[in-house]
Amino acid sequence: MSMFENLLTHTEDRIHHIIINRPSKLNALNKNTLAELHTAIYDAFNNDNVGGIIISGSGEKAFVAGADIAEFASYDSKQGEEMARRGHRTVFDFIENGPKPVIAAINGFALGGGLELALACHIRIASNNAKMGLPEVSLGLIPGYGGTQRLTRLVGRGRALEMILTGDMISAEDAHAYGLVNHVTSPVELIPAAEAIMDRILSRAPLALASAIAAVNASTQPDVNGFEEEIELFGKSFDTQDFKEGVSAFLEKRKPAFRGK
Ligand code: COA
Repeated sequence: MSMFENLLTHTEDRIHHIIINRPSKLNALNKNTLAELHTAIYDAFNNDNVGGIIISGSGEKAFVAGADIAEFASYDSKQGEEMARRGHRTVFDFIENGPKPVIAAINGFALGGGLELALACHIRIASNNAKMGLPEVSLGLIPGYGGTQRLTRLVGRGRALEMILTGDMISAEDAHAYGLVNHVTSPVELIPAAEAIMDRILSRAPLALASAIAAVNASTQPDVNGFEEEIELFGKSFDTQDFKEGVSAFLEKRKPAFRGK
């Protein structure tokens, strides 16, 4: 049972599903939905029964059609900056820097803040009816939840600038060719495909997954030496029980039973 107004959540086989549920507004992210997303993700990160998270949108039409335009229509520069800063801290950076894998299952429109939400996730897969774009310039804005940074890293400056400056949507097929999504499926296969990837990930050592995310993320932080970060995290892995279990299981030709310790 979900305790949220705009999210549906459930956990099955250590996978926590978060479904953004404002279908009448194409799942647009208003303040309340962002606050609920923070709570849902925080709870999942801190719940030992959850190994990873899959985020999708309710209905067949939209993943998330962006930040809620009606809500920020009368904002001034100060309020706009505060909106972006809070969003980064509580949801977008929070997901990217979290200790557990998060997969975006993009089941329809992923526009503006919706695409930025998918970009903050660690892995993206899309259904073949998905449409993705950063249309903010058509509203007189630019992306404010990390889109200019994360899209550029993922698809390169030229493609990112074309998407951001035209504001046009691209198809799932083009997003796949750009490297923006890892896989494209039919709509009915989307969630099972995301679960299959997550199942593979969750068969691995949890602390190693957290360190791997942190080490990969270090590659994008200008003030951090990613190689040094990798060396330290690699070294720390040797002190975990999971490392001893992983090596013993390999030598004994059995499946490891990782405990995240
Ligand atoms: N913020 C607030 N409401 C939104 C929204 C958003 N980002 N995206 C869609 N909605 C609302 C619409 O206002 C409409 O509400 P209403 O029925 O009360 O009028 C409802 O969702 C359905 O959207 P509608 O535009 O009628 O659907 P459509 O199929 O004709 O078009 C889109 C779909 C996605 C192309 C269109 O909704 C759209 O362009 N949305 C805005 C996308 C955007 O600019 N996002 C970036 C925001 S920074």
